[in-house]
Amino acid sequence: MNATEIETATAEALSDVEAAQTVDAVEAVRIKYLGRKGLLPTVMKGLKALTPEERGPAGRAANTFKQSLNSALGERLAGMQDGDVVESNLSPFDATLPGQWRGIGSQHPISTIIRETVVIFARLGFTVAEGPDIETGYNNFDALNTPEHHPSKDELDTFWFENGDLLRTQTSPVQIRTMKSTPPPLSIITPGRCYRRDTMDATHSANFHQIEGLYVATDVSLADLKGALAYFAREMMGPDVGVRFRPHFFPFTEPSVECDFTCHVCAGKGCRVCKGSGWIEIAGAGMVDPRVFEHVGYDPEVVSGYAFGMGVERIAMVKYGVPDIRMLYENDLRFLHQFA
Ligand code: PHE
Repeated sequence: MNATEIETATAEALSDVEAAQTVDAVEAVRIKYLGRKGLLPTVMKGLKALTPEERGPAGRAANTFKQSLNSALGERLAGMQDGDVVESNLSPFDATLPGQWRGIGSQHPISTIIRETVVIFARLGFTVAEGPDIETGYNNFDALNTPEHHPSKDELDTFWFENGDLLRTQTSPVQIRTMKSTPPPLSIITPGRCYRRDTMDATHSANFHQIEGLYVATDVSLADLKGALAYFAREMMGPDVGVRFRPHFFPFTEPSVECDFTCHVCAGKGCRVCKGSGWIEIAGAGMVDPRVFEHVGYDPEVVSGYAFGMGVERIAMVKYGVPDIRMLYENDLRFLHQFA
């Protein structure tokens, strides 16, 4: 059939649709024109026999035929009166048919780690507290007992605004905000974005995520901190994970430690991900420094507490064996679909 013939057939088909009075009749029209042995497949097959000049217009006419007939059929069904439908077993809407898959996507691995962490600490009685990405220099540094000469206060290490605010370099300022607004005791977990002037490489990003933890009560000891982080490690990584604590320094905790987990990829034997050491640094932590308590108006003679800050990307990389932090930000669906 050439284009003109197809157009004539289209007109006929559309008037057949108009004439159909029942759902069954509409279905019959559909089969007559669009069914496997209907007119459209014949038309499509016939295109090959046409001359090259005829083929283009005929192809377009065939498409119009299909589209206009389809929408006319749909409208006819939608416009049917209840009485028409009752004559048939076929309802235009069949609630038993499977739905159309909408492709709702999946959770990003960073979100998964944050949610799992919140759930694990919720079992220990922690609740979520949040703070803004744009912080005051006071909350990010001074109230956290960070001395004037500390390298992170440097122009080159931190994104400063002209008014002295900054993009927070850590989630620790939320400790300050929460303690200022809440009397002790408290136990909070704080997931959020942090910013540092780091050059992007396989393990660094200028924008990354941390989860801060703060526990303040009376008679809190380093053993409580170790217990909480070891519990978290086993819940997050599985029962065989090893946990070690190394002495370290943070201005806002004393004593301070760094907490490492055995590398999940090589089970501690040493591999590319852990750079041969068998351990991955996961968190900084320690006992809250009395100076910090003084800044927020807590009495260091009465309360004690521990705090920790974990790198979310670190945990994701170790848990899922992701060799390069950039994979977590590129939004490459081939990567992300693995977490669906
Ligand atoms: N804020 C520290 C960091 O970003 C981690 C930390 C949090 C250390 C809480 C001790 C206590 O490196």
